[in-house]
Amino acid sequence: MEVVPLATVDDVARLAADTIEALVRRGAGSAGSRDATGSTRAPAVLGLATGSSPLPTYRELVARHRAGTGPSYAGVRTFNLDEYVGLPPGHPQSYLATIRREFTDGLGLPPEQVHGPDPTPEDLPTAGERYEAEIVAAGGIDLQILGIGSDGHLAFNEPGSSLASLTRIKTLAEETRRDNARFFGSPGDVPRHVLTQGLGTILRARHLLLVATGEGKADAVAAAVEGPLTASCPASVLQLHPHATILLDEPAASRLARRDHYRDVYDAKPAWQGL
Ligand code: GLP
Repeated sequence: MEVVPLATVDDVARLAADTIEALVRRGAGSAGSRDATGSTRAPAVLGLATGSSPLPTYRELVARHRAGTGPSYAGVRTFNLDEYVGLPPGHPQSYLATIRREFTDGLGLPPEQVHGPDPTPEDLPTAGERYEAEIVAAGGIDLQILGIGSDGHLAFNEPGSSLASLTRIKTLAEETRRDNARFFGSPGDVPRHVLTQGLGTILRARHLLLVATGEGKADAVAAAVEGPLTASCPASVLQLHPHATILLDEPAASRLARRDHYRDVYDAKPAWQGL
């Protein structure tokens, strides 16, 4: 894991945006690889998280795109991490509607390139399997943006989730419903069920980029990065990934025992290395 303690939310957003733009410029596939013809790569496949943590990054990317300084997003496809079950179609808080409004519409991505798990009630039993197949058919996710829940959840994989899980239906923890009540009227209005990529799905992405800001995330970040690998802290699964980058502002990094070491390592990073 590469843990990068930065000063502010804006620093996190800028570095995350730089990393995503570099990938989009490079195209699909892992950093050193070429595609089958050895020439032009396919457009990148991005995994997107909702929640407030990645919003400053999305805004930064859209602002650069509008200013004409960003890369071309032509052909880029995106896959959401998760989706609520039981919201009426077109509900503004559905994660697909949210990601289009907050991000992909601003990049000019057509809706057919923006994917999420399908919460149609009658198709739920096969929704997980179909979503996994869609991701595989797209060539897998090149870079997965992640936030972290205050209880250590990743996507909607609540504590206790199998570390090998794939996309499936889950029941939300009360803490998450309370946290997410700000997007709805009250905790009671937050759906109980969700579809979510599993921790095993997330581990298949080629690069994981977790952004966490604010003191409310400090305990979850410390448990994920420096605690044991355990289903009790689903985000600790990042420790198993060969290329996981964790961008933190100062308050989110405040409970890391090795914070100074991570900063030293980042400061001493060779310029050619990138994230
Ligand atoms: C939500 C989402 C996660 C998100 C997390 C943190 O419930 N399903 O993908 O990372 O909780 O949200 P926030 O960034 O708003 O704190």
